[in-house]
Amino acid sequence: MKPMLGFVEWIKALEFAGYRRFVAHWRAIILLLILALATFLIAHADFFGLSLFALLLFFIASQLFWIGRTLDVAERLISGKPRRAWLAIVAGLLYSFLFLYSYPEWGLGHVIRAADYRPQSILIYAIFWWWFVGSMLAFLFVTAFGAADRAACGALWLYRKARMARHQDSTAADAHAALLSPSRRCFLERTAVLASATPFVAAGYGLLYERQNVEIVRQSVRLARLPKALEGFHIVQLSDIHIGPFTTADYIRRCVAITNGLQPDLIALTGDYVCWDPEAQDEVVGVLAGLRAPHGVFGCLGNHEADVEIEASITHLFAAHGIRILRQERAPIRLQDDVLNLIGIDDGGGVAPADVLQAAGQRRLQQLKALVMPNTVNILLEHYPGTFDLDDLGIDLTLAGDIHGGGQLSLDFVHRGLNLGSLMGVPYIRGLYEKGGAQLYMNRGIGITGFPIRLGARPELTLLELVRGV
Ligand SMILES: [Fe+2]
Repeated sequence: MKPMLGFVEWIKALEFAGYRRFVAHWRAIILLLILALATFLIAHADFFGLSLFALLLFFIASQLFWIGRTLDVAERLISGKPRRAWLAIVAGLLYSFLFLYSYPEWGLGHVIRAADYRPQSILIYAIFWWWFVGSMLAFLFVTAFGAADRAACGALWLYRKARMARHQDSTAADAHAALLSPSRRCFLERTAVLASATPFVAAGYGLLYERQNVEIVRQSVRLARLPKALEGFHIVQLSDIHIGPFTTADYIRRCVAITNGLQPDLIALTGDYVCWDPEAQDEVVGVLAGLRAPHGVFGCLGNHEADVEIEASITHLFAAHGIRILRQERAPIRLQDDVLNLIGIDDGGGVAPADVLQAAGQRRLQQLKALVMPNTVNILLEHYPGTFDLDDLGIDLTLAGDIHGGGQLSLDFVHRGLNLGSLMGVPYIRGLYEKGGAQLYMNRGIGITGFPIRLGARPELTLLELVRGV
């Protein structure tokens, strides 16, 4: 019987198998990456679907690599040397089960599946998405590492050729030999394996901890037209609640308690209360009914309410609990003799033909223009900030959400713009933006959709303080 392998042997096996596999599939992987890159560049001309296609290509390349690598490791570690074909069948069945169980309905828009609260479903779903996010990020690291290594080798080869041609310089040959030495290759392979393991650990952290590690963001907003009576007015914004198997009522209740503890003057909800399940609307409204603020709780609807066709029903449910959803409406907030004009409009999304959505968007825009009050501070609640780029609307501040701080995956702390949302061409991601005197605050939301992971995009409750000035 084969003895159990120690940690060092495991690492060595991983290194050897992974690197060998990577080299063996190098050309196919590079071809897929080039296709992905080309598609992505075309997508920057605003073809959203093409950028999704680029991501799909990258996903396929990463899965080919990691499944092959897992097979290599299994072949080396399992006693009795099972045939590779059998290992491939077992791995294929397991992978297919995880994939189909977690992603069973293929369709347009956000319609993926209704909520499934069974513990085994949550576990399988979590494993799948941990693998999905971890393997994609790790593949990104490995390919970047491989490309850098190849570039270094190529540069030194050119240097060596040039030196030898001109001076018959033997030190250049020595340098090239050192680059290809077994000890250096071993070091590089070990580094590549450790680097590629990091995203899997990070994805686990995002799944188990960061996903519900709520941050209270305090943001002051300067408004030139703010009347004196509203100086220091506090608004707490909650967005993208997405009640579901991974965003439970208990977690939302905790967010409600934190919000009430901040003692805001007014609470603003900026849409996406449910995930995919229309049946969940009663529960999420019941929990949000616990919100308290002296000037009231107001909200707008998100694209998920449109997707699952609960716009009217959830508005009535909120109204029954004293929360007013503004649907192409305004609610002037009065303090002494001064007014803050609060406006809410529906999201421009939903499942409908493009021309229908466009016509609805135009109608909404006309309605919005009629709701703006001149010579008054106008604050707009709009789930996706589709009107922020329009000039001369008279909106001082827009509160929005939708993109979950960059698609829930962000390395903005490394470099601003390095997040999933920006890569997909979304212009406004997180925090405060200013354009032509108008301001926009993008809230990261508290819930999740798609993968149940947040990495570099903590859930957020925003305490906005309105102050006078420019
Ligand atoms: Fe959302």
